[in-house]
Amino acid sequence: MKNQLKIGIIGCGGIAQGKHLPSLSKLEQVRIVAFCDIVVEKAEKLAAQYGIADAKVYAKYLDLLEDTSIDVIHVLTPNNSHAEISIAALEAGKHVMCEKPMAKTSAEAQKMVEAAKRTGRKLTIGYNNRFRPDSQYLHKLSSQGDLGEVYFAKAHAIRRRAVPTWGVFLDKEKQGGGPLIDIGTHALDLTLWMMNNYKPKSVMGNVYYKLGKKENSANAWGPWEPEKFNVEDSAFGFITMENGATITLESSWALNTLDVDEAKCSLCGTEGGADMKDGLRINGEKHSKLYTNNIELGAGGVAFYEGKSESDADLEAYLWINSIIDDTDPIVKPEEAFVVTQILEAIYESAKTGKAVYFN
Ligand SMILES: NC(=O)c1ccc[n+]([C@@H]2O[C@H](COP(=O)([O-])OP(=O)(O)OC[C@H]3O[C@@H](n4cnc5c(N)ncnc54)[C@H](O)[C@@H]3O)[C@@H](O)[C@H]2O)c1
Repeated sequence: MKNQLKIGIIGCGGIAQGKHLPSLSKLEQVRIVAFCDIVVEKAEKLAAQYGIADAKVYAKYLDLLEDTSIDVIHVLTPNNSHAEISIAALEAGKHVMCEKPMAKTSAEAQKMVEAAKRTGRKLTIGYNNRFRPDSQYLHKLSSQGDLGEVYFAKAHAIRRRAVPTWGVFLDKEKQGGGPLIDIGTHALDLTLWMMNNYKPKSVMGNVYYKLGKKENSANAWGPWEPEKFNVEDSAFGFITMENGATITLESSWALNTLDVDEAKCSLCGTEGGADMKDGLRINGEKHSKLYTNNIELGAGGVAFYEGKSESDADLEAYLWINSIIDDTDPIVKPEEAFVVTQILEAIYESAKTGKAVYFN
């Protein structure tokens, strides 16, 4: 295919291998031409697996950005370098997909939004949960007004014991925080997108450091090292929006509860409600009776055939690349991710001061 977009990958760890490269390599519109990691062997390995025959390998991202033939950069490094690398890539004339969370702070996120505007390049953030079938369906339903005015919502990001033990997830300096900025970010993004409401008025939050220092804890990825656990293990927020709507946000990597769910939201509106927990269920009242509808997301109709199914990662990559080709807005807009970053930062701030944070 002529005029394929040339992609450069910066950060060749878990999310590069688990999400971006398998999905990008299915698209005939792209060629993955360059790989960078400070551990250069990681870049070499992925270049051999996913790159074109003469793919370039770099240890320094600034060297990769000098290649003027590269159109698109995927920034897949720890959170502390998202802003720096994304801004440098935008300034070098590239379109940028940056992994979530957008940045460690709202000041950094603001600079990323400004850099995209200044350079006229596209910037998106890797909120892949928007591309799940249940999210796509609920977004359509909510945007068409089926739920009426959504005035209460819950963002769920709760694990019993699933603390990431690889990479730098427990390092506050490199990540900016723990489960709130890591998985709370997905749940809050999903909730704001469903509500189409990006105007927070005030935020209160509490952050806990209760279980991270326990030795030999049960954990999905094996025991963590307590001395390295320097971020919160759970965080909770109470967000009031300018229009009066309330959002509660629950996030934890380790909590003694059976009520676990992640990257999900519940919405309560004047015409109906929706819960992503236990499948997608829509509830309401009709003809003086309450109803609950379970939404079946498969194609249906033919026994044993569920229709074509695409993973959220595949759909995210496909729509992102096509937004560049067609010159349309990406589904995840940087201004939206900026508001998510602002709210998460306000939860940390409120937890520190014991006071509500008000937005102008
Ligand atoms: N969308 C999701 O659900 C999801 C899931 C996991 C991780 N992530 C995000 O992806 C990012 C990376 O997470 P991960 O799990 O892949 O971590 P990881 O530690 O496995 O990979 C990060 C890689 O970046 C490299 N790196 C660090 N600094 C660099 C630099 N300046 N230049 C080039 N390479 C550099 C590291 O050597 C490492 O190989 C994080 O921001 C994380 O929040 C998103």
